[in-house]
Amino acid sequence: MTYVIAQPCVDVKDRSCIDECPVDCIYEGRRALYIHADECVDCGACEPVCPVEAVFFETDLPAQWHDFHRSATEFFETAGSPGGAGSSGPYDHDSTVVAALGPQDVAQ
Ligand code: F3S
Ligand code: F3S
Repeated sequence: MTYVIAQPCVDVKDRSCIDECPVDCIYEGRRALYIHADECVDCGACEPVCPVEAVFFETDLPAQWHDFHRSATEFFETAGSPGGAGSSGPYDHDSTVVAALGPQDVAQ
């Protein structure tokens, strides 16, 4: 199981979640951040600090954002399993789900 970052992060990228993650498994893409499912230890520390409530436990993902689980998987098919965000990235790509979105209203 893992936590998942959903659509509210896109074009916002507050990054508060990064500071809370004890295993450094939140990676930065071009327009959003992504949690590495194999590295996440399900501690939940990232969820409450996101100001736009973009972070969900995978089974709690709202239905309209179910694609964001697959989105993260796809992101790491390119990024691999770096074993720590601090020593890798930010990356210059996004998942196809994120890349296909129009500009998000960041003034929410
Ligand atoms: Fe995104 Fe929220 Fe983290 S906006 S970067 S998931 S704090
Ligand atoms: Fe990291 Fe814990 Fe979230 S391991 S991605 S802070 S659930």
